[in-house]
Amino acid sequence: MSVFTGLTDFDPAPSLQTSAAVTVSTRTAPDAPVIGYLVAGDSTDPGVHGLDGVAFEAAGFEGRVGQTIVLPSAGGPLTVLVGVGESGDLDADRLRDAGAAFARATERHRNLTLRLGEIGVVAPDVAGQVLVEGALLARYRYDVLKAKATVEPIEALALVIDGSRSAGVRRGAARGVFTAEATSIARDLANTPPALLTAIDMAELASWLGKERGLTVEIFDKKALIDLGCGGLLGVNAGSAEEPRMIRLSYRPARPKGHLTLVGKGIMYDAGGMALKPADDVHATMKNDMSGAGAILAAMAQLEGLGCKVAVTGYLMCTDNRPSETSIAMGDVLTVYGGKTVEVKNTDAEGRLVMADALVLATEDETDAIVDIATLTGAAMRALGTQVAGLIGNNAALVAQVEASAAVTGESVWELPLERRYRGDLNSDIADIKNLGGANAGAITAALFLDEFVAGKPWAHIDIAGTAQNDRDTSWRPPGCTGFGARLLVELALNFKRPEA
Ligand code: BES
Ligand code: MN
Ligand code: ZN
Repeated sequence: MSVFTGLTDFDPAPSLQTSAAVTVSTRTAPDAPVIGYLVAGDSTDPGVHGLDGVAFEAAGFEGRVGQTIVLPSAGGPLTVLVGVGESGDLDADRLRDAGAAFARATERHRNLTLRLGEIGVVAPDVAGQVLVEGALLARYRYDVLKAKATVEPIEALALVIDGSRSAGVRRGAARGVFTAEATSIARDLANTPPALLTAIDMAELASWLGKERGLTVEIFDKKALIDLGCGGLLGVNAGSAEEPRMIRLSYRPARPKGHLTLVGKGIMYDAGGMALKPADDVHATMKNDMSGAGAILAAMAQLEGLGCKVAVTGYLMCTDNRPSETSIAMGDVLTVYGGKTVEVKNTDAEGRLVMADALVLATEDETDAIVDIATLTGAAMRALGTQVAGLIGNNAALVAQVEASAAVTGESVWELPLERRYRGDLNSDIADIKNLGGANAGAITAALFLDEFVAGKPWAHIDIAGTAQNDRDTSWRPPGCTGFGARLLVELALNFKRPEA
């Protein structure tokens, strides 16, 4: 169907076609071509090449976090010292950065060995996980549309650690393969151009991947959505030549310890609809407006492999938002699933319209909590920038679980208030509610809109408008779509506890 050559619409995400062999052992293989050493700033004495800390400091290597020095040797392996900072400060984030720095310093090599001297007080399993994440994610590039890959993929990563800690590192490294893949898949999905990943393609991909990964996948096409009455998703889709898709993913372990429902914004491309966006840099990133849905699919694909004990349901709300003869107009009124009417004051505030249908559906399931994730508002990006996502909820215990997960995965969130004094900004003259608040507090009024549809169930909302895209090139975050939230959702599902109502 695609007009592009080389890729069909339904090629699985590139990250699913390549995977690194990660191993953990107590000994370095004799033929290892590249060997890294984790070195703390207060002990720059790795004992390689007969050099000591003084020699390395003279060469400018002080063991700062992320600092590396590459030492060639005649005929032997390439030696790489990787700084982890002062040993007393060592934590999971620093180790993840060190893993990334190692992978970046060895960009032209596919077979890497890393000796874990310094992991300080970091638990061995955590160390294994974050080092794998850092290394694999630092080398991620969305390269499939280029004639030539820009960095070499990692084919083999061997972590070497002494006997007593190797079992823990092995357990964690195995987890890191799943979590790094979650982020990589989410990046692939968001990086894929809109013509190559339409709502229909997303549904096909979810069906295929879900089957591979132990999920039940239900696809709701346009007719099914009409029968259900999902007026939000259908309204936003009205201007598109392509049909919408609602995708419901279900993960059901034996005797689940709770039920978490995830709702994701899946705007495959957001032109703004009739309120066409200007042709600026922000508009040019709007293929990523499905990053929430992508993060959920990527996260849920790992739950079986990670042995998640919690039942998880995911709703992915997928369509384009385009202007055309058939688009909804400003002032149109949509009836979302469940019957509430919404006056569309701005067709570019479309995310909340598609989310509303799914939130109501989610409340009808027997779920303990709802967490939604969406590139929802430019206001969240204005407030928090590109490194911190907005977090808003109606339940402190659930918000705390999201915060705890974010702290573990290095995907920062910051809570904003669900300030009900702004609820009046959403009052409509002719419908139950309108989709546009006032000039200020746009991230909060968007959340207040969503809150209207969760029927008081424990709910938290993650606004990733700023964090979905990255212009810089640092550590485990290469430029482009970030896959933000995929690992956070994995972590949340694995540790989920029913919040008090
Ligand atoms: N997808 C955008 C939000 C967005 C903006 C994401 C910038 C990433 C970067 C969303 O659909 C949108 O257009 N929101 C509008 C809402 C407004 C019309 C109330 C916005 O934030 O400007
Ligand atoms: Mn929009
Ligand atoms: Zn949007």
